[in-house]
Amino acid sequence: MENGLFDLTGKTALVTGAGRGIGLALARGLAQQGADLALVARTAGQLEGAKRQIEAETGRKVAVFPFDLADLGHVRGLFEEVVRATGGVDILVNCAGMTIREPTEDMSLESFNRVMEVNLTEVLLLCQAFCRHRKTVGQGGRIVNIGSLACHAARPTIAAYACSKMGVLALTRTLAVEWAKYGINVNAIGPGYIATDLTAPLQADAQFSQWVLSKTPLNRWGRPEDLVGTAILLASRAGAFITGQIFYVDGGWTALV
Ligand SMILES: NC(=O)c1ccc[n+]([C@@H]2O[C@H](COP(=O)([O-])OP(=O)(O)OC[C@H]3O[C@@H](n4cnc5c(N)ncnc54)[C@H](OP(=O)(O)O)[C@@H]3O)[C@@H](O)[C@H]2O)c1
Repeated sequence: MENGLFDLTGKTALVTGAGRGIGLALARGLAQQGADLALVARTAGQLEGAKRQIEAETGRKVAVFPFDLADLGHVRGLFEEVVRATGGVDILVNCAGMTIREPTEDMSLESFNRVMEVNLTEVLLLCQAFCRHRKTVGQGGRIVNIGSLACHAARPTIAAYACSKMGVLALTRTLAVEWAKYGINVNAIGPGYIATDLTAPLQADAQFSQWVLSKTPLNRWGRPEDLVGTAILLASRAGAFITGQIFYVDGGWTALV
């Protein structure tokens, strides 16, 4: 639908965590709507694979930037490098994330800090760099952060992850109200249980997997592709009046009592 509500032709999206899983699916979906891409993750081989696949499928330009987002001192420099290489970033999708599952009573400060840095602090730093850039361009912008069901409810052994994702939600709302004056819309997607490498140990646990199905009215694990439509909505003209929201794409998980 050229020039339609969901068209992203002429836009460039920076997607973190785009080597595999949800980030790869979102990057691919945005390119299918016409966006050029800048992809960030640590594993260069996965980024190169994503680039080849998406360029072949969509004909869009895809640039890759292997980078460890835990390297907080260089996140701003990474963003500036992306802008130099691509000519500008219109859409920022913060999808990179990790977890360490352990009982909170035994959790080390090192584990807690590591999860907070990768899932939250670098998101703040990229959002700040994006905001500075978009103020210079003067045409607004879109930020799509990836939250979690942990923004909504608790589960044992994921205290650091839950704190980081609650932080992502708080940041999303705060930036939405602070940066509306710059025309920057900031929203989040809260995925339900999605079958990716991150959840591989949970999928392999028959009892846990059964619990997921029992809590998910649509009665299946989600697929990364299930999140694409919401990301396109939030990145495109269709989402022009949406900001400060989290959209749970969870097969009905949060609706179930
Ligand atoms: N799967 C789910 O059920 C689910 C549910 C709710 C929320 N989420 C969120 O969705 C996002 C994506 O998760 P996923 O399930 O797609 O996980 P995944 O398959 O493990 O992919 C994670 C991506 O993030 C990148 N990444 C991790 N640490 C990084 C770092 N320090 N620097 C740069 N890139 C890094 C990984 O690449 P490298 O390892 O190559 O760096 C990979 O590309 C995460 O924020 C996660 O919390 C997932």
